[in-house]
Amino acid sequence: MKTVDNVRKIGIVGAGTMGSGIAQVAAQSGYEVILNDISDSFIQNGIAKIQKGLGKAVEKGKMTKEEMANIMSRIRGSVSLEDLANTDVIIEAILEDRAAKKQVFASLDSICKQDAILASNTSSIPITELASATKRPDKVVGMHFFNPAPVMKLVEVIRAVQTSDETKELVKALAVKMGKVPVEVNDFPGFCTNRILVPMINEAAYCLMEGVASAEAIDQVMKLGANHPMGPLELADLIGLDVCLNIMEVLYSEYGDPKYRPCPLLRRLVQAGRLGRKTGWGFHKYE
Ligand code: CAA
Repeated sequence: MKTVDNVRKIGIVGAGTMGSGIAQVAAQSGYEVILNDISDSFIQNGIAKIQKGLGKAVEKGKMTKEEMANIMSRIRGSVSLEDLANTDVIIEAILEDRAAKKQVFASLDSICKQDAILASNTSSIPITELASATKRPDKVVGMHFFNPAPVMKLVEVIRAVQTSDETKELVKALAVKMGKVPVEVNDFPGFCTNRILVPMINEAAYCLMEGVASAEAIDQVMKLGANHPMGPLELADLIGLDVCLNIMEVLYSEYGDPKYRPCPLLRRLVQAGRLGRKTGWGFHKYE
């Protein structure tokens, strides 16, 4: 593949919050999308999320029913990676499990077209390591979207040690076609956004644990005093406490710097299954 104009079909591996959000963005930008996951029920959940999101846009008069139907017709579910054989760019968005991701990259490498680009939406696993699981490391790159993917403008484009200029430029152009703003960063633990954002959330958890302020007060000071759209604890609930803890563990183990030690309260809440919005209770309770 030479340029972004050759991209027609996009494969998304993983139909969770991020995968379905990215699939929606890609289909809304006119691409044919194959949304892959290991079970049909995961795919149906992902498709239902997209339908709900687009349905709201129709209700608000921001999109017609016909436009919504056209977008939905561009998304096809799949439970076999083999279905991605004809896609031009594949964006992996499965759970943050190093071994599982490397396995997916190795499989995609053997299934996909030789010139297909393999991107990962990982928030913490080195792209260089994923690239090494393939025989096309120059065509592996990070495309890191942010939650909620249909709304957030940023795509962090992460360049592995092996990523070619051509690959990097192509995915930057693709992000623009998807209505996003690509920002190039290098392959360091937590990349750039999460290295700054998640330690802030961790610090907010320490403030709560040490009794500096209540959860409500911590969120309020950051919204009113720093103009953040959400407080750090609300944001942790949106991202998932397990995801935040995982990112802190990666920063702590890869840098070996005590400033990244995960807050024990964050760890306890994860152990208790209080993962945030997805379980109905994290730092805050949800209906
Ligand atoms: N999916 C799709 N659309 C959504 C949505 C969702 N989950 N949540 C909100 N929206 C849409 C709404 O429909 C609305 O659209 P319109 O403007 O077209 O009407 C728009 O977003 C604004 O929503 P609301 O008015 O309901 O609420 P808001 O103005 O408070 O915005 C927010 C909600 C966009 C989530 C905002 O609070 C925000 O930006 N929060 C911070 C989010 C953030 O920092 N995300 C990054 C997390 S880190 C990450 O993802 C990376 C990682 O690796 C961990």
